[in-house]
Amino acid sequence: MTASIPAPEQIRAAWDTLATDFDDLVSPRTITSGETLVADLGVRQGTRFLDVAAGTGALAIPAARRGASVVAVDIAPTMIERLRARATADALSNLDAQVMSGEELDLPDDSVDVAASLNGVSLLPDFDRGLAELVRVTAPGGRVVIASFGPLPQTEFVSFFMSAMRTAIPDLTPLPTNPPPLPFQVADPETMRTKLLHGGLTDVSVLTPTWEWHFPSADAYWSAVATSNPIVARLVVDLTASQRDDVVRVLDGMFRERSGGDPGAGLRNVMTIGIGTK
Ligand SMILES: C[S@@+](CC[C@H](N)C(=O)[O-])C[C@H]1O[C@@H](n2cnc3c(N)ncnc32)[C@H](O)[C@@H]1O
Repeated sequence: MTASIPAPEQIRAAWDTLATDFDDLVSPRTITSGETLVADLGVRQGTRFLDVAAGTGALAIPAARRGASVVAVDIAPTMIERLRARATADALSNLDAQVMSGEELDLPDDSVDVAASLNGVSLLPDFDRGLAELVRVTAPGGRVVIASFGPLPQTEFVSFFMSAMRTAIPDLTPLPTNPPPLPFQVADPETMRTKLLHGGLTDVSVLTPTWEWHFPSADAYWSAVATSNPIVARLVVDLTASQRDDVVRVLDGMFRERSGGDPGAGLRNVMTIGIGTK
């Protein structure tokens, strides 16, 4: 059975509600990972760089720090507000952040050198449309980059949470896996490759690096994951305080097992990063 797709207004509102906590708890990690990605892409002074579904700047902030001329767009106004605040704090006058849907970019054809999205276009209900927009605005010879979490079992940022929920609350309805939840729709490297080729890109490569995100405690991890996506936020909103405590207790055990007894642990996320040339 296919889950019903929320209307764009509901999607915008759901992300907007999470934006402030997302900026505080998740973005510091995605920005650090984004630094690695934009460096590997060779983004530099003068690169015309677009970050779609930018959140509060996972790729946009690192690209701007490298001197690129950056446009960052996101559907959620509070994400953009927070992104602008980050840019101002870093004195990044080369970063223009706008509220805009990735499914309908208000940007000219052939206008950027690199059009990229981290866990953004990959979670759109109409992935093909989001990809087509990235391709449209990329100049011939430029690159389109879609970075997604890898398959769910290899994305510990999510799988730790799901596993602890199942252990602590055995009658919980788990996330459907076939088809996978939208954030994992192109997590399989072959699916990513096929989609990019069908989108008209050439020289397609798919990289699968592991990004580690460290959390100082199970409690800190819980707060971050609960604000990372409306699907997760919906799963936790109905938990009682005691159910929540049970899940965090299970997570604490998982963290200590991972780290040899320490309360903090590094969670490994295999990424699926598709790169193609227009
Ligand atoms: C998981 S967050 C990723 C944010 C950022 N790229 C990062 O990695 O930190 C997904 C983002 O997609 C945005 N988003 C969802 N649907 C969108 C759409 N149709 N157009 C643009 N942004 C969208 C949300 O507002 C949210 O900021």
